[in-house]
Amino acid sequence: MSRPSILATHPLFPEARTLLDAHCDVEYWQKEDRPSRAEFLKQVAPKDGVVCLLTEKIDKEMLAAAPKLRIAANVAVGYDNISVPDCTSRKVVVTNTPGVLDETTADFAWTLLMCTARRVGEGEALCRSGSWAGWNLDQLCGGDVWGKTLGVIGFGRIGRAVARRSRGFGMKVIYTDAIRASEAVEKELGAKYVDMDILLASADFVSVHVPMMAGTHHLINAERLKKMKRTAYLINTARGPVVDNEALYQALKAGTIAGAGIDVHEQEPKIHPGLVSLKKVVLTPHIASASIETRTRMACIAAENVLAFFEGQRPPNVVNPEALG
Ligand code: GLV
Repeated sequence: MSRPSILATHPLFPEARTLLDAHCDVEYWQKEDRPSRAEFLKQVAPKDGVVCLLTEKIDKEMLAAAPKLRIAANVAVGYDNISVPDCTSRKVVVTNTPGVLDETTADFAWTLLMCTARRVGEGEALCRSGSWAGWNLDQLCGGDVWGKTLGVIGFGRIGRAVARRSRGFGMKVIYTDAIRASEAVEKELGAKYVDMDILLASADFVSVHVPMMAGTHHLINAERLKKMKRTAYLINTARGPVVDNEALYQALKAGTIAGAGIDVHEQEPKIHPGLVSLKKVVLTPHIASASIETRTRMACIAAENVLAFFEGQRPPNVVNPEALG
């Protein structure tokens, strides 16, 4: 077979380029900005495969624009940017990058948790402002982390990695999920299964780790925020629309909860202006998996999925095996 023609909507990392270039003819998007929709549709049109990021929508229109396309390899574990049913009915294989970003993402959920509880953003801004007048007894007092209760919503690989880290802080861990973990896992992580309402009412830190699906849209809404402790913090490194950002803003403004650490946003790259205005929110631009090692590995996995597919093997991370036919 001739070498497949691939669009990569990012220059990727040299390690991933080396893999792809050995077997495919790859056109890499080279500009700093993400491609516009029109540019994306134009470039993908003649391709056999695409290595894409979360910023590219793979939907009916895109599939119609690229009639030869056979694989969409997302450089992410989440694939809510891709209409999987449309890909399946067009027999386009979808792949993702599970497993390699769990620990890095868990590290970052903890980064946000600590920064939020201990007001690191405000302290940093004060140092840079030139107006710090010196040590003071009640200056930037936050909430303790150690010894508190961590509530994990979504107890998959990332949720568990977040729970594991809490042991060093002597925390109690409670979790909720559609599927209860095995007794062995609960024991290993010292985690107790509870229902959502109990978790919200008992946790000092609520950390969200569910995938984006119809059933998780606005999972954290006004009603659920009201069930949290007034002293509690919400951490979101999952997907923006899992938390109703307007409801979160209102809850923070009203003092219904104490603070929030938010890495993912409802309408990226827009950030809810109310959240921007509040000091008790720590905001980051969707970087929970952004370590060089992890992002390199994610790009390599996407490349490996493409290579396996065009070698006639089952790609290691197929989301829609039905499309393999
Ligand atoms: C990043 O958000 C991912 O889904 O990998």
